[in-house]
Amino acid sequence: MLNSNKHVDFFHRKNKLLNGGGSKAVEKQMAMGKLTARDRITALLDAQSFYEYDLFVEHRCRDFDMVNKLLPGDGVITGTGTIAGRPICVYAQDFTVAGGSLGLMHARKITKIMDHAVKMGMPIIGINDSGGARIQEGVDSLAGYGEIFYRNTIASGIIPQLSVILGPCAGGAVYSPALTDFVFVVENISKMFITGPEVIKTVLGEEISMEDLGGARVQTEISGNAHFCAGNELECFHQIKQLLTYIPWNNKARADRHTPRPPKPKHEIDQIVPPEPTKPYDVRDIIRAICDNSDFFEIQRNWAANIVIGFARLDGQTVGIVGNQPLVLAGVLDVDSSDKAARFIRFCDAFNIPLVTLVDIPGYLPGVDQEHAGVIRHGAKILYAFSEATVPKITVILRKAYGGGYIAMCSRHLGADFVFAWPTAEIAVMGPEGAANIIFRQEISSSLDPVATRRLKVQEYGEKFANPYVAAASGHIDAVISPADTRKVLIHAIHVSSSKAECRPARKHGIPPF
Ligand code: HXC
Repeated sequence: MLNSNKHVDFFHRKNKLLNGGGSKAVEKQMAMGKLTARDRITALLDAQSFYEYDLFVEHRCRDFDMVNKLLPGDGVITGTGTIAGRPICVYAQDFTVAGGSLGLMHARKITKIMDHAVKMGMPIIGINDSGGARIQEGVDSLAGYGEIFYRNTIASGIIPQLSVILGPCAGGAVYSPALTDFVFVVENISKMFITGPEVIKTVLGEEISMEDLGGARVQTEISGNAHFCAGNELECFHQIKQLLTYIPWNNKARADRHTPRPPKPKHEIDQIVPPEPTKPYDVRDIIRAICDNSDFFEIQRNWAANIVIGFARLDGQTVGIVGNQPLVLAGVLDVDSSDKAARFIRFCDAFNIPLVTLVDIPGYLPGVDQEHAGVIRHGAKILYAFSEATVPKITVILRKAYGGGYIAMCSRHLGADFVFAWPTAEIAVMGPEGAANIIFRQEISSSLDPVATRRLKVQEYGEKFANPYVAAASGHIDAVISPADTRKVLIHAIHVSSSKAECRPARKHGIPPF
């Protein structure tokens, strides 16, 4: 009898907590086009796979009439489950409970599941939907954020960390996602900012909506803070599941090998790169012509689009691809594209994912804006990241590889294991036009026919350097290959690099230029 009373009491308590902030708050949440925290977890994880912990955790706040206030789960749901049968840790802030605001116990639930993810070696997915630091808890809530940031940093490079922004993520709260590896946002739902519209109005006298300040498009197209944007929450969860197919579960593992598939026949590699060095093309067409099933999982597609990064598979094995994009700014490196590539390279290196670099670059972007924005410091990040990486590094020079861009794009000199060049490759300090204008300036201007002399000198320089053979003669590249052989050559290079082990001098850590 006593036992059955206890069971009834248990179900009563549990059901009360499972309702979150109650039906009114849930209705409000749904009216905003948002799923509830619990529905989000259900939609993300395999059916019936979620096990929740710390449902009965209670806040400790005694101020501002909080003593008897029930905040179910303290506004966050934490637990473990599976995605495609593989174990995962997850937390989802529950906006229906005190606006998902973060108090100390809320934070401790999150840090507990983070610790679990690190110990057990599995990814953690954090779903953010919160009004930020719980105002009533004062410094305790700030302490909670600090404890999360600390763990984000400790877990970095050990387990993949994914952040999903499905509501407000304001103030210092944004720094947990910023410390994680991939940030997902959803149109009209995600809002990320440090200082909100109210503060901006007070301090700067400027009016701006939350959407224009830090909505999904802003974060994926202008700031680059987020990596993936979806039209709705279910699409977002699909993107997460796709990403997880490409990456390993921790830094000691390798990504799962999938069944190898040839590229789709419509992607004809010979026809993509125009012979004229200045004519644009889409480097993603090359990627699709090389990779398994022509699948390319692009990351940060709409930000710093002059470089393309993402995952693909070669012979069933995940590779990280970094490619200059001649379609945008002729594929130059600049502040943002250097940041974008460097972070991705470091992710791949931390998680044992070989790097394939596709080169067609006229150099770093010239200009006062770039110099003043710190292109020296930011541009150094990509040099650092490629040099630091010890995973297999394979480079293919498709067309132009000029100046600093040649070195930066995983050249032999930065430790590439294999460097291949197509016959269309031009490896030089700069393009023939610019080079001839500088080194033959005197000769051109003093000649009877400067136009004809310039043409001749451009041709002369081009014949000397605008080809892959000078670099091949010095061993800076390993082989000149025909485009049609690229996939075969890459698969072989990855195959023979599979037990690569590169040791570096011992140190506490390097000091990258960030
Ligand atoms: C306590 C909060 C809260 C908070 C929201 N709520 N934010 N409670 N602390 N930070 C509560 C509300 O009182 C309300 O409770 C419920 O959550 C829903 O909030 P609404 O305002 O009704 O929702 P909505 O209109 O959708 O507006 C959402 C919002 C707004 C834009 C997020 O709530 C808001 O501006 N909140 C404050 C945001 C903020 O300034 N946070 C502090 C940031 S500073 P009831 O009981 O009425 O349902 C920060 C520092 C972190 O986070 C530093 C870390 C290093």
